[in-house]
Amino acid sequence: MPTMASVGTVRDDMVGGPAARSLVRFVSCGSVDDGKSTLIGRLLFECGALFDDQLDTLARDSRSVGTRGAEIDYALLLDGLSAEREQGITIDVAYRFFSTARRKFIVADTPGHEQYTRNMVTAASTADVAVLLVDARNGMAVQTRRHGFLASRLGVRQFILAVSKMDLVGYSREVFEDVERDFSAYAKSLGVTDVTAIPLSGTMGDNVTEPSPNMPWYGGPPLLGALEEAGTTPSAASAPLRLPVQWVNRPHLDFRGFAGTLVSGAARAGDAVCVMPSGRRSLIERVVTFDGDVESAPVQAAVTVTLADAIDVGRGDVICALDAPVNSGRQFEATIVWMHDAPLLRGREYLIKLGAQSATATLSPIKYRIDIDTLEHRPTDQLELNEIGVCEMELDREVAFEAYEVNRDLGGFIVIDRLTNQTVGAGLIHFALRRSANVHWQPVDVTRHAHAALKRQRPCILWFTGLSGAGKSTIANIVQMKLHAMGKHTYLLDGDNIRLGLSKDLGFEDADRVENIRRVAEVAKLMTDAGLIVLTAFISPFRAERAMARALFAVDEFVEIHVDTPLRVAEQRDVKGLYRKARRGRLKNFTGIDSPYEAPEQPELRVDTTTLAPEHAADRIVDYLRDHARLDFS
Ligand code: ADX
Repeated sequence: MPTMASVGTVRDDMVGGPAARSLVRFVSCGSVDDGKSTLIGRLLFECGALFDDQLDTLARDSRSVGTRGAEIDYALLLDGLSAEREQGITIDVAYRFFSTARRKFIVADTPGHEQYTRNMVTAASTADVAVLLVDARNGMAVQTRRHGFLASRLGVRQFILAVSKMDLVGYSREVFEDVERDFSAYAKSLGVTDVTAIPLSGTMGDNVTEPSPNMPWYGGPPLLGALEEAGTTPSAASAPLRLPVQWVNRPHLDFRGFAGTLVSGAARAGDAVCVMPSGRRSLIERVVTFDGDVESAPVQAAVTVTLADAIDVGRGDVICALDAPVNSGRQFEATIVWMHDAPLLRGREYLIKLGAQSATATLSPIKYRIDIDTLEHRPTDQLELNEIGVCEMELDREVAFEAYEVNRDLGGFIVIDRLTNQTVGAGLIHFALRRSANVHWQPVDVTRHAHAALKRQRPCILWFTGLSGAGKSTIANIVQMKLHAMGKHTYLLDGDNIRLGLSKDLGFEDADRVENIRRVAEVAKLMTDAGLIVLTAFISPFRAERAMARALFAVDEFVEIHVDTPLRVAEQRDVKGLYRKARRGRLKNFTGIDSPYEAPEQPELRVDTTTLAPEHAADRIVDYLRDHARLDFS
């Protein structure tokens, strides 16, 4: 999942080439209290992975602020890195390189603060091994389960359980074996069978790089030895060819190359390929690398290929072996790891990025949330920060993908908030769904334009938004009367009325409001297709859903009208007595009281009901339509 890595993906060739000692990537998980910084610091130190200036600083800091007297305090090394991070200059995940005579390593150090899922996902999605630290004095912690769970879901198959601070429990075999037993049981429930448990002490150096004389009862390898023995995640070398196109290289008219990194299989001149999601076929003509043309390029190589036919291939497409193409589709089931303070809501639209492909996605009802402690499935409508759930996703276009289990690069995606552009979640694809694969848009002969022409009007939508009791329905009703009197064909969709019919299954939780507005926007869209001028009067409290509604229409067709009434005034009016009920706690999730209202930032119109009577507000709106030629027909 290269898009997740904040420092980019580190490849074999950056650290000596694939032919050299093979590379193991591991992620270290645990909090500073578990002795993680000390352990990794010592490992780097003993493998000679530190620069001279880092060593000097370490020795100096150890004397002045360290906790180890005259000795070196290894924790300061990584704490120094995290301080750097906090200043915002570096990155969430610090990647460190080191090597021994036998192996090369990249360790992803993930800080243990509350944003840890984001960092864990970034680091573990490319890791071969997870080193989980557990303080021998405390045994398995909630964090251990969380880290173990995440790492296993992200495809890490080998775990090293580092039972740390053994010196503080008198190097007790019983203590170690208790932790080992607990963890093995948990790992088994996760489906992880490859666990090496090591008793060690980062401070004293027991079983870090050398076997410890203090624990003769332990017959296994020290940490470094275990890492040297670790296998790398089964290479995708023997899998079928997959080349996600990063960019189309067109230096002159005679050359059109498709550049990217081979995420599985090899590319050979003459290979029969198809391009997904379009399914178009061709043959590989040339395989060009940094060193010029080659007959064949191996997995992980960065290549540019040319094809024998001038077929349409764009950024994000995946060139695949013809006899084993990847999936393509608009629906799949996925695990979502949520990383944002505002919850993930079903029905809301998000952007997803899957390699170089992007699409707009909505979630069908979330199937379940996973309780990380018990691994039980719990029903839910939304995912909170750090929660993990399984859901079905629906995209606005076809994408090429594989199950994450089969291919991390083509099965992992990130979720982006459409309004803020922030990365808010990560997803792992399970399998394609074929629910609407056989449903295609049917052209109809009486078009939108024909409907409108018969009515001699230009369809549009007047989207009223504002607090309960702001006056939306009252004003919309007057506007509709005025338009009707002018001979216009209109329809008013009103919040209370729709909730008595189309949306009678919905309540006032955030997710229900999202779904309510989705339905209303879709219905309004159909009605404008039928040539009507549509008025909608819903609180529609969230910017994201109003943006979603707006996106269904042409630019000048959507007129957002903020019926701006301060909470204080709406509450004073309290026409339906609902504010009183809400204040007494007899009505939950009431907008403005215990449910948010996100005011529009740039509505087409804002009517201030404290200075404008409903009749005048309605006139203002009709004037706006007239001024913007919405009432003409041409
Ligand atoms: S929306 O949030 O989904 O857009 P909608 O406009 O359909 O809300 O419905 C709002 C109407 O439902 C209010 O005018 C009010 O009469 C009624 N209502 C009942 N409970 C609530 C609540 N908890 N919050 C807001 N409105 C409520």
